[in-house]
Amino acid sequence: MNQVVIVGAGQAGCWAAKTLRQYDYAGKVILLGEEAYPPYDRPPLSKTVLVGDAEPSSTWYLSLDELAGLGIDFRPNLKAQEIDRRACQVTLEGGASLNYDRLILTTGARPRELTVPGSVDAPIYYLRGIDDCLALRAVLRPGNRIIVVGGGLIGLEVAAAARKLGCEAVVVEVADRVLARVAGPEVSRYVTNMHRDHGVEIIAGVMPEKIESGARACRIICKDGTVVEGNAIVAGIGVIPNSELAANAGLNTEGGIWVDEFTRTEDESIHAAGDVTNHINLRLGRRVRLETWQNAQNQAIAAAKVICGREEPYTDTPWGWSDQYDCNLQMLGIPETFDEPVLRGKPEEGSFSLYYLREGKVSAMAAINAVRDVAVSRRLIAGNIAVDASRLADTAEPMKTLLAAS
Ligand code: APR
Repeated sequence: MNQVVIVGAGQAGCWAAKTLRQYDYAGKVILLGEEAYPPYDRPPLSKTVLVGDAEPSSTWYLSLDELAGLGIDFRPNLKAQEIDRRACQVTLEGGASLNYDRLILTTGARPRELTVPGSVDAPIYYLRGIDDCLALRAVLRPGNRIIVVGGGLIGLEVAAAARKLGCEAVVVEVADRVLARVAGPEVSRYVTNMHRDHGVEIIAGVMPEKIESGARACRIICKDGTVVEGNAIVAGIGVIPNSELAANAGLNTEGGIWVDEFTRTEDESIHAAGDVTNHINLRLGRRVRLETWQNAQNQAIAAAKVICGREEPYTDTPWGWSDQYDCNLQMLGIPETFDEPVLRGKPEEGSFSLYYLREGKVSAMAAINAVRDVAVSRRLIAGNIAVDASRLADTAEPMKTLLAAS
């Protein structure tokens, strides 16, 4: 085999390329990216870079020199247009084509657009890439009032950044609570109160229906008649996997590109990794599409290793985090329901964890300013260790002692 083509030069694409070299892949590695930048890390774009504490270049995983030094043929500003699976060929924008022995699709996801009457002329910002971050950063000026549509991770991090930069912020969420996709009601309550303490207005349970924009102001009119006014709108209403390239090539892309636990699509020459995949997770016992930093990195590593003949199933316990103000939120595993978690710690003191048990074992947890609980929980989940709920709740009992099965 002598040529791997990687489509998508984000975190997953970069890790796939790097890992091929780490495991001595001797053929050509071509990394295609439609953006102008080398592969970069996205989490700082809604945190330190957004508030101006860091610059975009600090997020680059590898410089152009480092990419070249690893023998990675990085081609920015270039979009793959079509896959010809019979010929094992990718057609590029502009008409050129590349042959591949193996193709890795790391095309990621894009923000879902807010499309309501008036949205085309409205000052709506999204946050996914460096250019988005810089455009939004320019708007987060003191005195502006930012309307954040969507109380998910992106929306809430933007609201926190806006407050730090002296803007007013109001969050408009369609569900009855913020963070409903990723966290339970207790976390939502804590986070809502924290934002309110920082001066953010949070309006949940309202559906934006129409936008009216003037020269310096805009307003969102919701279905129930609620009117929200501001100078700019940031929409963080979820993402859509960029799976069109795979779909047009006839691959299964229902809910993301379908891959198995070895990152393989149904075409043995084509792998996929990162946000775009709908993958089999043996630990969860089902298919899942994850939008996490950890998944982008480790699933891509798994893909490259399979190509290098080191076949290992990708079985990470899902993990994600968010930083807002001085609060660190971490989430491990995926709870089947958010029913009756075991509480450890004191929400009123700003540090606690919630454990979701299934058949006496931890299946998922969320930690607010409780980083140490996360490390032990990872081992409890990975080891499938039975725990006693009352001991778990007792902060006098060090978490570590729970590792010896009760
Ligand atoms: N109006 C208001 N709220 C809406 C609307 C709408 N029309 N549509 C969806 N929402 C809400 C959802 O109920 C949800 O709470 O927007 C929120 C979106 O949250 P997420 O699904 O977490 O997506 P987002 O915050 O956009 O994050 C996108 O970036 O950092 C990553 O991990 C993050 O993968 C995620 C991605």
